[in-house]
Amino acid sequence: MLQKRIKIKDALASAPEGQTITVMGWVRTFRSNRFIDINDGSTNANLQAVVDFEREDPDLLKRITTGASLKVTGVLIPSQGKGQRMELKADAIEVLGDSDPALFPLQPKRHSLEFLREIAHLRFRTNTFGAVFRVRHALAFAVHKFYNDKGFLYLHTPIISASDAEGAGEMFRVTTLDMAQPPLTDEGKVDFTKDFFGKSTNLTVSGQLEGELGAMAFSEIYTFGPTFRAENSNTARHLAEFWMIEPEMAFYDLEDNMNLAEEFIRYIIGYVMEHNKEDLEFLDKRLEEEEKTKPEAERSDMGLLAKLSFVLENPFERITYTQAIEILLQSPAYKKKKFKYDVSWGIDMQSEHERYLVEKHFKRPVIVTNYPKEIKAFYMRQNDDGKTVAAMDILAPGIGEIVGGSQREERLDKLIERMEELHLPLEEMSWYLDTRRFGTVPHAGFGLGFERMVQFVTGMGNIRDVIPFPRTPNNCEF
Ligand code: 4AD
Ligand code: MG
Repeated sequence: MLQKRIKIKDALASAPEGQTITVMGWVRTFRSNRFIDINDGSTNANLQAVVDFEREDPDLLKRITTGASLKVTGVLIPSQGKGQRMELKADAIEVLGDSDPALFPLQPKRHSLEFLREIAHLRFRTNTFGAVFRVRHALAFAVHKFYNDKGFLYLHTPIISASDAEGAGEMFRVTTLDMAQPPLTDEGKVDFTKDFFGKSTNLTVSGQLEGELGAMAFSEIYTFGPTFRAENSNTARHLAEFWMIEPEMAFYDLEDNMNLAEEFIRYIIGYVMEHNKEDLEFLDKRLEEEEKTKPEAERSDMGLLAKLSFVLENPFERITYTQAIEILLQSPAYKKKKFKYDVSWGIDMQSEHERYLVEKHFKRPVIVTNYPKEIKAFYMRQNDDGKTVAAMDILAPGIGEIVGGSQREERLDKLIERMEELHLPLEEMSWYLDTRRFGTVPHAGFGLGFERMVQFVTGMGNIRDVIPFPRTPNNCEF
C-alpha cells in the first residue's frame, strides 16, 4: 500500500513536532548533495527534505535529479535554515522513477510560456501552471457550488447535435462516412441520410437550446460542458474547444438575467480568493513581473489581486448598445482615428471597441444590452422598437466579451417570424418550437466562457495557457 503518504500541502500546514511522515513527489531541485525540494502538486510550495549524505549510498544520491520521483520517509522538524518553517530529516529515500538530467527539458530557470505549451506534462510541474490549474479547478468547483446552493439543476446537454444553436455555421462535422467516396444524392450532394445518425451532425456550439427545454420543466438549470467552434480565429481569446457554463431560467427577464450573471461572477471570484490565496498571490507577482516587460502605455493600472477585489466590491456598469456606440463616437480615440475598425450604429463591436469601453472609459466590467437584432442570434427576444433585441454581453477588462446572453423570445409567432427571415429550418427545429407551444414562459439565460473567466482570474494573457490541452487552428497535440 502506498497511501500512507501525506500530501505536502498538509505536511506544510502541520506543526513540525518530530513526527515521522512519508511524502511522495517530484524533485524540483537538489542542492549541495543535501537539500531536496520536493513538490507533489498539492501546493506551489516545496517541502525541503534534508539528506545525511555521509550515510546515504552515493549511487542513490546520483539518482536524485530534477524531475525524478521520490518516496521519502523522515522526521518533520522545525527548520534550521532560512526560507522554510520546517524540513523533513530524511531517514529512507526511494527513487520511484529516474529522470535523466541530460534529457529532462525543464531547467531551474524561467521558461517561455510558448516553450512550455510544447511539453504538456511537464508544464503542470511549473509554479505558474501549478497555480493556474489549481485555480481552474477551484473555479469549476465554485461554479457547481453556486448553482447547487441556489437549487439549479445540472442538465447534461449533448455534445453531438444536429442543430446550429448560434446560427453562425462555425461547426465541426461529425460523420462516419468515407469522405473520399461519400454516398451521393440524385443532385450529386453528400447523402447524409446514409450517415451514422441518418442526418448531418456536428459537435455542439452551445447547449442552450437543449437547456431551454430543461428550464421549461425544472425552472432553473445550468450546463457546464465542452463546446466547439470551427472559427478560424488565431487569437489569445479563442479556442476551437472550450468549456461553457450556461444557466437557463424560466420566469427571468433581462434584468434578472444580468443580476444573476453579476452575482455568479462575484461568487466564483470570491470563492477562489478565499480558497486559493497562495496561488493568486503567486500569479499576482508573476503578472507584475510580466507587466514590467511591456511598454508603459500597455501596462494595466491595477495588479491582479487589486483587480479581483475591485470586481468584488463594485457593481458592473450597465449601458445599452446605443449608449456604447455614442460613447465610442464621442471618444478621443475615435476622433483621432485610433480605431482600426469604423464605428456606427449597427456594427458588431470589435475587441478594440469593447476594450476601450471597459479599460479606458469605465475602468470596470460593463454589461451592454439591447443590441441590433441583425448581429445577434435568432432566439433573442425582440424589443418593441423593432430594431433591437434583449441581449446582454458582459465585457471584462483585459478580456473583452466574457458572457453572452439574452432574454429569449417566448412568443411563438414572433420566433417563427424571425426564423423565417433567417431561413432557419422550422421543421427540424420543431422540438425547440414546442417549448413555445406548450406552456411558454418568459425566460432568459447566458453563457460564460470558462477559459476566459480563468484568464481573468489568473491574469494569463493567452487562452492556451489556461486549458490543459488547447485546441486551436493547426494545433491538436496530445
Ligand atoms: O456569446 P456566445 O456565442 O453565446 C452563446 O453561445 C449562447 N448560446 C450562450 C447562452 O446564452 N446560453 O458564447 C458565450 C461565451 C462568450 O461570451 C465567450 O466568453 C465564450 O463563450 N466563447 C469562447 N471562448 C473561447 N473560445 C471561443 N472560440 C469562444 N467563443 C465564445
Ligand atoms: Mg457572443
